[in-house]
Amino acid sequence: MGSIIEITKSAPLSGSVRISGAKNSAVAIIPATVLAGGPCVLENVPPLTDVYNQCRILSYLGAKVEWLDATTVSIDTTALRNETPPDRLAGKLRASYYLMGALLGRFGLSRIGLPGGCKIGPRPIDQHLKGFQALGCKCDINDGYVLLEGNGLHSGHVYFDLVSVGATINVMLAAAGVEGTTTIENAAREPEIIDLANFLNKIGVTVKGAGTGTLRITGNRDRGWSEHSIIPDRIEAGTFMIAATATAGDVVVKGVITRHLESVTAKLRETGVTIEEGEDWLRVSGPARGKAVDVKTLPYPGFPTDLQQPLTAYLTRCAGTSVITENIFENRFRYVDELKRMGANIKVEGRTAIVEGVEELRGATVQASDLRASSALIIAGLAARGRTRVRGISYLKRGYHDFIGKLRQLGAEIDLV
Ligand code: EPZ
Repeated sequence: MGSIIEITKSAPLSGSVRISGAKNSAVAIIPATVLAGGPCVLENVPPLTDVYNQCRILSYLGAKVEWLDATTVSIDTTALRNETPPDRLAGKLRASYYLMGALLGRFGLSRIGLPGGCKIGPRPIDQHLKGFQALGCKCDINDGYVLLEGNGLHSGHVYFDLVSVGATINVMLAAAGVEGTTTIENAAREPEIIDLANFLNKIGVTVKGAGTGTLRITGNRDRGWSEHSIIPDRIEAGTFMIAATATAGDVVVKGVITRHLESVTAKLRETGVTIEEGEDWLRVSGPARGKAVDVKTLPYPGFPTDLQQPLTAYLTRCAGTSVITENIFENRFRYVDELKRMGANIKVEGRTAIVEGVEELRGATVQASDLRASSALIIAGLAARGRTRVRGISYLKRGYHDFIGKLRQLGAEIDLV
């Protein structure tokens, strides 16, 4: 199997696609099993390289990890050792830094390699450390490692300077192992935070306020274990909604929590897309050519930054001028140069991209620079005249399970070469 994704202009996508479990929930709940007192069974886990690598880190530390089927994994961390995961493993995914909070919460000490920045910005961890310090933890960074020393952790109160999904999750994990009630203000409100809170509540931690900006976590030393089903991936779902729209298709996206997609549904409707909402499905039918819109990425429940790239790929052909403002990451427009190679008319000024809709894109060979850029370039290729080749299949597999297979099921002309 090749490593280049080849797409030719496809007929309007049609049919239905079932959404997998949420990557950004799974990569947080897998390390949360470190806080459990016994074997946890996680269901609806997306079979992704980021998920497998997060499990490999736990195995390395002595956890018993057993896949019961393609999307169900049993993780028993009873015999976990508090060691530093090797860089070859931790360096494969940013979410390995959740081991900071998990190991601190369980053992009162942790040492993890600094996470890499990536192509969407420097991605500092100052807010994570601020939260750990509020619990009485001493934090040092030297020769590329973060050393956290509890020395008698206590519950605390942290007010984040900005909304951070990762910092919220990391401090929840640490606080889960600390007696007393820790308060986190200006917390992230993403559905993945609520999913983690639900898991922690099942193993004997008390988390209140998940989904609001104020979290209260009452940890305890004597925690149980449980089973848990991961919520559906709203970003995968939104990506397929946009792919359908970009090809003027008619697609049912199944197995979703529709309220997690409210900002996406609203924005696509503004471009002229018809969206019918069911119990756990959305039917998306796109117009021959959408209308330009303005969009600003914001923390949940605002428009998600992870769909900024796929949406922009669609907006390149919408009639009129669209203004896209990326408020979350400093540098999440690198893929725009690749879209311009396909004939898109986009001007980037700092955190803003101004898109003049063109009638048609033309296929080209393009390079994905991150996970969501890869899906964005594929979406552009579905609607572009001729053939598009996208390099960067490894990014795609990190965040989308069987993306190519699911698109082919909907009629896309896409293959690996
Ligand atoms: C999570 O990243 C997601 N990753 C990202 O998804 C997502 O784009 C992001 O949240 C925003 O929703 C996972 O869940 C594994 P942040 P995270 O901390 O936690 C700044 C994908 O494609 N910041 O909410 O790293 C930071 O630089 C990925 O699935 C600080 O300044 O995001 C950014 O500008 C991409 N200091 C902003 O906050 C800190 O200590 C939001 O980052 C932490 C963050």
